[in-house]
Amino acid sequence: MGVAVPDTYVELADLAMARGVAPGKYVEGLGVTRMGVPLVDEDTVTLASRAARMALESAGCSPEDVGLLVVGTETAVDHSKPVASYVQGLLGLPTRCRIFETKHACYGGTAALQMALDWVRSGSAKGRKALIVCSDIARYGVGTPGEPTQGAGAVAMLVSDTPALLALEAGKTGVYSKDVMDFWRPLYSKDALVDGHYSVQCYLDALEGAYRAYQEAAAEPVGEGAYSDRFAALVYHVPYGKMSRKAHRHLRTLDGDAAPDASFDRLVGNSLVLPSQVGNIYTGSMYLALASLLSTAPQDLTGQRVGLFSYGSGSCAEFFSGVVQAGAQERVKALGLQARLSRRRALSIPEYEDVMRAREHLDERPAADAAGSGFRYQGTRDHKRIYAT
Ligand code: HMG
Repeated sequence: MGVAVPDTYVELADLAMARGVAPGKYVEGLGVTRMGVPLVDEDTVTLASRAARMALESAGCSPEDVGLLVVGTETAVDHSKPVASYVQGLLGLPTRCRIFETKHACYGGTAALQMALDWVRSGSAKGRKALIVCSDIARYGVGTPGEPTQGAGAVAMLVSDTPALLALEAGKTGVYSKDVMDFWRPLYSKDALVDGHYSVQCYLDALEGAYRAYQEAAAEPVGEGAYSDRFAALVYHVPYGKMSRKAHRHLRTLDGDAAPDASFDRLVGNSLVLPSQVGNIYTGSMYLALASLLSTAPQDLTGQRVGLFSYGSGSCAEFFSGVVQAGAQERVKALGLQARLSRRRALSIPEYEDVMRAREHLDERPAADAAGSGFRYQGTRDHKRIYAT
């Protein structure tokens, strides 16, 4: 696994004060302390490439080992050329590699992951690995209710038949999809549009449908107590921390738990440590929450089952599960994610607003002459995006 976030962020308490809102509404009410805001040399491609490189290095893999690369994103940089092709070029992946992009709001990365699992299980992988990258920049209008739920980042995962972090359980998955208008981004808009409170209800309806479908698919004997106590932890899609709390309350109510909040810290708390400092990263949000769980849980999770709930507006959702592998927590801790977050620089609100305005025109910005390095977006030349490696 690899994770990339922007080097800069906005303090939500500062944003609240600038908008004339009580800081408690964003920090406690939404459960977010900071949101990642990328500068103009960062885009979905650079975030994806940085996360992918970290995943390869962490697993000790060469680009030659990869036979499938899929980038899940809802903030692509081109109507035709996939983000995955840029990533292939920047990382030097082999030409004998199937490469494309998937889209279904925040579910796009999970769609790619599930497809990769089938690719591996079917034998088509022939020993090669799939590289799945979830990369997005979440953007709502300045001053809208969605503004404090922005964020940016990417999570990359290598999928193979010898998993080192999580062994995803074949057949144990439940899907729910429904055509709803809860959140969308028209082709003419850089900002997402959202029917906020309705989107929360759509998320909860989808959770219920996917969780019930999972239980049917798993077909396990009826046991004592709450069904979700079969999991050592639950990782929900995190548009903001409070949504995970609402999700958990709903799921435990479905389980018949009379005190549905009582298990929140035990089953969910560790998954929110990193997301609360980054904000919504759309496709990668649930996977950042998984990284948070694996890097911050104090107890040994080896051999224990984790439940995962992925939700994409529009909508498609999936509840699935995996078993934590020996050494997984040490591997994710070794990525030093918390230390990386601590090294970021805070933007003042005027700086942030300037960046938001500048990002409106990123796709036509003439490429800078300076060479730069480390997967940075330089601008365009002859309508082609230029990246520094
Ligand atoms: P809002 O309407 O401005 O906020 O926007 P609110 O009035 O609902 O208040 C939020 C919470 O703060 C409430 O808590 C208040 O009580 C509390 P709740 O009742 O929900 O438990 N509050 C306070 N708490 C402490 N101190 C205070 C205080 N004041 C109020 N002083 C909304 C909230 C989420 C609607 C908005 O931010 C929004 O539209 N966000 C974007 C949409 C979104 O994130 N939806 C989530 C579900 S859909 C999803 O997850 C998919 C998505 O990721 C996209 C994709 O799939 O690609 C979004």
